[in-house]
Amino acid sequence: MKYNNILLEKNNALAKIIINRPKKLNALNKQTITELSHAFKVLEEDSVIKVIILTGSGEKAFVAGADISEFAHFSVNEGGSLARKGQEMLFDFVENLSTPVIAAINGFALGGGLELAMSCHFRIASNNAKMGLPEVSLGVIPGYGGTQRLPQLVGKGKAMELIMTAAMISADEAKNCGLVNHTTTLEELLPLAEKLASKIMRNSSVAISGAIKAVNANFKDGINGFDTEISEFGACFGTADFKEGTTAFLEKRKPSFSGN
Ligand code: COA
Repeated sequence: MKYNNILLEKNNALAKIIINRPKKLNALNKQTITELSHAFKVLEEDSVIKVIILTGSGEKAFVAGADISEFAHFSVNEGGSLARKGQEMLFDFVENLSTPVIAAINGFALGGGLELAMSCHFRIASNNAKMGLPEVSLGVIPGYGGTQRLPQLVGKGKAMELIMTAAMISADEAKNCGLVNHTTTLEELLPLAEKLASKIMRNSSVAISGAIKAVNANFKDGINGFDTEISEFGACFGTADFKEGTTAFLEKRKPSFSGN
């Protein structure tokens, strides 16, 4: 697929997806969602890629929301279908990837932009970032998982306040409430993301994908997370990485994981 609205960069085991519509503050139109979905799928299938960093182009925005011009005239059915398709194609898909995804929030992350960052496995932000779910100020509610993932990250009361007031919070406030893990300067944002990625890459990718599955199971209806943890834990004992990790420990050397 030829990408018009995103850039995809690969450097050995690290991939970067850069949302690239800076004139529209990287707003998520249909085409951008399709391209993102495709890129994540391609990277998930690429066994060389161990970590994905998602960021926005320019110095102003990660993503300033879903593209308002595309849905302003939608009917009830079209609105429902927009949310359902988007969640399936991109937001739920990213959350459930077995390859770790770090959101590097480099500016505005509003509405669908914050929802996309919240679908990633964790988030870091630059000091200029502003985050919020301003949907009720447009007469709509978050539709790409925001009402579910924001309370998971910041707690129900804080999420209710942020959603009801449509407030934009700073990177420091986002860190204080657990929405992002680290803040830094804009210049240091990608280097920090890369440093975290390289720490992740030292570990067993097959164990990491099991851990992602087990953590996510805690938030899925009808699934017992403890059971998922037990079965993912057990599965590790059949992997080459487990043999290598434990043998290396006992031989007092650094492990060399194959990811199998
Ligand atoms: N959808 C569509 N276009 C958007 C957009 C969105 N979510 N966010 C920004 N843009 C466009 C603007 O329409 C403008 O386009 P134009 O130059 O063709 O007029 C361009 O991006 C630049 O935005 P602008 O509003 O001029 O920048 P600003 O610095 O004055 O304000 C924001 C920045 C983020 C405060 C403002 O753009 C904004 O409020 N955006 C909408 C945020 C939102 O409600 N998102 C949730 C959507 S559900």
